[in-house]
Amino acid sequence: MKIGILSGGGDAPGINAVVRAVVRKAILEYDYEVIGIRDGWRGLLEGSFIPLDLNKTAGILPRGGSILGTSRTNPFGREDGPKDVLKNMKEQGIGAVVVIGGDDTLGVAQRLFEKGLNCVGVPKTIDNDLVGTDYTFGFHTAVSIACKALDQLHTTAEAHHRVMILEVMGRRSGWIAFEAGLAGGADAILIPEKPFTIEEICEIIRRRQKRGRYFSLVVVAEGAKPEGGQEIVYSKGVDEFGNLRLGGVGYYLGREIEKKMSIETRVVVLGHLQRGGSPVASDRVLATRYGIGAINLVHEGKFGRMVALRGNDIVSIPLKRVVGKQKKLDLKLYEVAKVFFA
Ligand code: F6P
Repeated sequence: MKIGILSGGGDAPGINAVVRAVVRKAILEYDYEVIGIRDGWRGLLEGSFIPLDLNKTAGILPRGGSILGTSRTNPFGREDGPKDVLKNMKEQGIGAVVVIGGDDTLGVAQRLFEKGLNCVGVPKTIDNDLVGTDYTFGFHTAVSIACKALDQLHTTAEAHHRVMILEVMGRRSGWIAFEAGLAGGADAILIPEKPFTIEEICEIIRRRQKRGRYFSLVVVAEGAKPEGGQEIVYSKGVDEFGNLRLGGVGYYLGREIEKKMSIETRVVVLGHLQRGGSPVASDRVLATRYGIGAINLVHEGKFGRMVALRGNDIVSIPLKRVVGKQKKLDLKLYEVAKVFFA
């Protein structure tokens, strides 16, 4: 059988580790052929492919990005999109597709599965906001980059007696902000799940000043919003899945804190630094295990399912139980972090 593999949506460190694992196991154990599909669903819409073999995937384990490329193309937003995808698959002789993606990309996989596409999903997003799995790959790399950024901001914040605000990714969930903030000793963590008030942040800063701590570190997820307000958007447009481009909540906070308190504030937007570069070891391991799990699902003919991590086991669940939902940060975990907001 010929297997296609694609990565869609925002990249996440570890995509290449999934590709490598799928190719190895598919060729060496199942005697399948594997073909790469370029730039997510766009490759299947436009018929753009890369042949893959053991040598083409050698040495890619530590590489960030995706050797396949990625895009936020939505075939359901194009006239005859789903038809073209199925036609191109047939023409290429592709029997099944391994789809590496987050909610949008896997949502397309589920809808195409209902139209007859044999596919299996691999959960990818630095945001860790997919339901049904304990972790998505890429998340731990993003957390470790954000934690390192906090460590570095810590020393300069302390030297200058400033408030430092670090804005991290996390459109609808605060996983990165929470874990990086907890690991990096943040004095306040703001997440989309819990609207904030400027007053509560100023209160934390004042409490610290009273005990002689004249600097504070605040981590904010890009999707965090003020009580009664909206997320702060960078620009008005939306992508093919209707996602807003968020950004700027850090600057909003910085300005508001300076208005209310006589303390200098600086803002760092970590942006795509937290998505680029080499995956940490735990993401390489998880991505590799997902890749092996995905090709096993293909071999067993278990289509329309996504590999998932439960405890220390790789399991699978139907895509329809995953898509269109978001795994929010458990507020019990947030209570742990709040102990340190003082
Ligand atoms: O992949 C999800 C994500 O990391 C979000 O947290 C963020 O809003 C988005 O990607 C930004 O992606 P891009 O700038 O590539 O559109």
